[in-house]
Amino acid sequence: MSERWYKEAVIYCIEVDSFQDSNGDGCGDLKGLTSRLDYLARLGVTCLWLNPIHPSPQRDDGYDVSDYYGVDPRLGDLGDFVELATQARGRGIRILLDLVVNHTSDEHPWFRSARSDPASPYRDWYVWSTAEPSDRRQGMVFPGEQTETWTFDDVAGQWYFHRFYDFQPDLNWSTPAVRTEIKKVMEFWLRLGASGFRIDAAPFVLEQISPGVDPGPLDFSILDDWRQDVQWSSGEAVLLCEANVSADDLPKYCRAVAGGPNDRAHMLFAFGLNAKLWLALAREDAEPLVEAIGALPRLPAMSQWATFLRNHDELDLSKLTDEQRGDVMAAFAPKADMRIYNRGIRRRLASMMKGERRRIELAYSLQFTMPGTPVLRYGEEIGMGEDLALPGRESIRTPMQWDASRGAGFSTASPTDFVRPVLSRGPYAAKRVNVRAQRRDRDSLLRWFEELVRVLRECPEVGVGEPSVLDVPLPRSVLAHRFEAPEGSVLLLHNLADVPVRIDLSAIDVGRHPYEVFADSDYGALQKDRSQVQLNGWGYRWIRLRRGD
Ligand code: BGC
Repeated sequence: MSERWYKEAVIYCIEVDSFQDSNGDGCGDLKGLTSRLDYLARLGVTCLWLNPIHPSPQRDDGYDVSDYYGVDPRLGDLGDFVELATQARGRGIRILLDLVVNHTSDEHPWFRSARSDPASPYRDWYVWSTAEPSDRRQGMVFPGEQTETWTFDDVAGQWYFHRFYDFQPDLNWSTPAVRTEIKKVMEFWLRLGASGFRIDAAPFVLEQISPGVDPGPLDFSILDDWRQDVQWSSGEAVLLCEANVSADDLPKYCRAVAGGPNDRAHMLFAFGLNAKLWLALAREDAEPLVEAIGALPRLPAMSQWATFLRNHDELDLSKLTDEQRGDVMAAFAPKADMRIYNRGIRRRLASMMKGERRRIELAYSLQFTMPGTPVLRYGEEIGMGEDLALPGRESIRTPMQWDASRGAGFSTASPTDFVRPVLSRGPYAAKRVNVRAQRRDRDSLLRWFEELVRVLRECPEVGVGEPSVLDVPLPRSVLAHRFEAPEGSVLLLHNLADVPVRIDLSAIDVGRHPYEVFADSDYGALQKDRSQVQLNGWGYRWIRLRRGD
C-alpha cells in the first residue's frame, strides 16, 4: 500500500538537548542527533518530531521562543539543522518541528518592544487590557505552577494575557501582521528541509481573547490559511495538531469546510484514545478501548490520528471521570510525587509497568495497532524510567541512555555539567538500561521494538485501514479488532490481564490461510475450528487474514 507518507510513518519524538552531545559541553545538539541517525534508521522510525529547537530562555523547555528564525546556540546553528535534515532524508527520515506560536517568550524582541512603547508596531501583536480583567484567575493550564492568566506589566502599564506561564505572553492572532509573520516562519523552515509542524496548543492559538468575557468562537481561518500555505510551498508538508479537546470538536481541526477552502490539519493527536488506553490497561478491561475505538470521530480521507502512550508532557487524564482517573492513578502513580497538575502522571511507561516486560510489550503492541500513526518518545524503546527528583515534567526528559558509562554515552562532559542529570540510580539507571547492552541482547526490548516496527511496515493496513472491533463474546480482558483495506486484512488480539485465556473465534471468517505475523510467544498454527484460540496473560497476537494480492 502506498498511502500518504504520514499515514504509514513511525514518528519519534526527541528532546535535542537530551539526546546526544557532540561537543562535550553537556548539552545534546543537532550534530549529536545527526550522528545517531543510523540508530534511528535501524529502529525503523521514518519521522522525527523535534521539541522546540529555537533560541529560548528555556523557562519552559524551549516552549518559550525568543527567535523563530534561529537555532538555540546550545543545539547548533541553521547549517546544522540543514545538515540534519539532509542526512535524515538520505535515510528516508523526515523532520517535523514544533510550531509554538500561541505565545512567545517575554524576552522575544517583539514583546520587549510591545511592552516598552504603546506606539510600538508590535504593541497589538499581544493581548492587552487597561483594567484588571475580572477573569484574571481563570483558565490556567498549569494549576499549581500558574496562578493567573492576566498579569500586570509594570513596563507597559497594562495587563497582558498568557494562557500558559506568565513569561509566555499570548500572540494576538487577530492582528494581520502576526499571521503574515508566522506564515514566513513556516515557509522559512520548510525551505530549510522540515516536512511540517506539530502545532503546539492549537485550540489556544485559535481562541479569541478579550478581558472579562468568555473566549469567542475559535477562528479556524488560521488553520485554513496554514494548510493552504504549507501545501503551496511543499506538497509533502503536514500539520499535526495538539488539540486535547472533546471528540465533537476534533474533526473541525481537519475537516474541509463545505464549499470553502481545503482541509485543515493532516494529523491530530488522539488524546481521548490515549486516556482510554491507560484506563483499559489499569482496569485490565477492554471495554474502554472498545468504546474509544467506536467513538473515534471520522476524519476526512486524507487525515490521520497520531497515537501515543507517553509524550514529553504529563500523561493527561483530565478527560476521564474522577473515578476513572482514580483507577489509573492507583495502578500507575500510587505516590503523590508521581502526579502533577491534579490531572496527570509524570512517569515513563516502563516504570509505570513496574518494568514488567510482557506488560510493556502489550501496551506498545496495543498502541501500534490503534487507528493512526504511532508516535514514540525517545528512550521508550529501551524502557527508560523517570527521575522524580527533577521538578515537574523534567522527570521524563533525562538524557538518552546510550551505554553504561557515567555519562551514559550522552556526553563526554562531567555529568555535573549535564543539561539534566543522567538517571544513575535504581532499576532504570543507565548502567542497567542502555542501548549498547540491548543491542547485544537478542531478547532485549530494543530488539523487540525493531521487530514491532518492521512487522507494522509489513502490515500497512494496520492503523490505516478501516478498523472494527469483533462482535463476538470475549473475556472482559480481551480486545479483538481488525483492519480492512484493499491490500489486506489483519486481526489483532490483546489480553489486558495477566491471566491466560482461550477465546472462541469459530464465528469469525478468518479467510483460508490465516497466519500469525507477530505475537508475544510462539502459539503454533491456528487450530482448524478456532474454538480454542489461546492468548497468554498480557499476550498479543497479530494474525494476517488476507492479502489483497
Ligand atoms: C506543550 C507543553 C508546553 C505548552 C506551552 C504544550 O502544549 O506540549 O510542553 O509547556 O504547550 O507551550
